[in-house]
Amino acid sequence: MNKRSVRDLDVQGKRVLVRVDFNVPVKNGEVTDDTRIQRALPTIRHLLERGARPILISHLGRPKGEPDPEYAMDAVAEKLEELLGVPVKKLDTAAGPEAERTLNDWDGEGVVLLENSRFYPGETKNDPEFSEQLATLADLYVDDAFGAAHRAHATTVGVAELLPAAAGLLMEEEIDNLDKVLRVPERPFVAIIGGAKVSDKVDVIESLLEVADTLLVGGAMCFTFFKARGYETGSSLVEDEYLEEAKRLMGEAGERLVLPVDVVVAEEMEEDARASVVRIEEMPENMMGLDVGPETVEKFGGYVTEAKTIFWNGPMGVFEMDAFAKGTEGVARAVAESEAISIVGGGDSVAAVRKLGLEDEMGFISTGGGASLEYVEGKELPGVAVLPNREDA
Ligand code: 3PG
Repeated sequence: MNKRSVRDLDVQGKRVLVRVDFNVPVKNGEVTDDTRIQRALPTIRHLLERGARPILISHLGRPKGEPDPEYAMDAVAEKLEELLGVPVKKLDTAAGPEAERTLNDWDGEGVVLLENSRFYPGETKNDPEFSEQLATLADLYVDDAFGAAHRAHATTVGVAELLPAAAGLLMEEEIDNLDKVLRVPERPFVAIIGGAKVSDKVDVIESLLEVADTLLVGGAMCFTFFKARGYETGSSLVEDEYLEEAKRLMGEAGERLVLPVDVVVAEEMEEDARASVVRIEEMPENMMGLDVGPETVEKFGGYVTEAKTIFWNGPMGVFEMDAFAKGTEGVARAVAESEAISIVGGGDSVAAVRKLGLEDEMGFISTGGGASLEYVEGKELPGVAVLPNREDA
């Protein structure tokens, strides 16, 4: 990554505002998945080891620009302290006189975690005044929130324009890994795209078609492609307004776009629904497709085994329900066993990998959902664009 890195900064004795993506699931006051916190630890430790005073800031959920106890950072602070093993001083504000006072009185032990940035209306508006308030809290700014880099907010963009700024270690790792896949992939490069809707993935499919040798399409979105080909799709989810788009993509891709050959169907999307496997040409009118079938898993697995580079985004079926989880599981296992450079991006496929306990078998798991998709789509991420290039540093 050609951006100034936290490693290029002299941080000794400095207050460093670190934008992290601690947007993690919290249930009954407990963090239920701490992956994003774990992945930010290297940057925080890097700073602590060099005598910096890290002041962390993140959003959590989507509160409406005002304090909302449901989205307070207390549970995150507790988990962070447990993982980091140093005191975490959690503030009840993220900016303003009270935050300034507390930081001035801070003895510099451990790290500070500010309150949810989205408790302030200025955050999502990228308000200059709010950015200014944040900038007064620190000497330097480090952005380690890859997962939020597609948002042009005060904590990802505004404040980066006001303080000497650099990318954190996770941010670098994310971009470097995605670039490895997108810019000069070792071939064959196989992309696997799933999920419910074609509409969410048109741009990413389009971009991947420019670089990938094969695009395997699973998930409910395959039924829009099947309908566009004139197949019976029963009561499966189909986006009729995307039929033309699907046709166009298939035309562009030719044989490189590979669809399932069989699917798991049921009358309803219910855990205890009676599921059966049918070939795609034999889709019953009164059934919906909820997963890819075993023959498809084998076929997709064949491509995955041959691949030297793999990018996977989106589950193959309704993996949250055991009856429709086998397709996603099969693909996940094939990717896990492959020797290829593999990247798993996007919330749902990552959740599936985690559910199966296969995290350690994957090449690289992106912490970004929307951010990794937008990056693959070739869009500029505002939180990355704003950071100074190395040569300008
Ligand atoms: C994510 O979970 O993808 C990021 O934290 C961004 O969250 P947002 O979609 O609420 O901006």
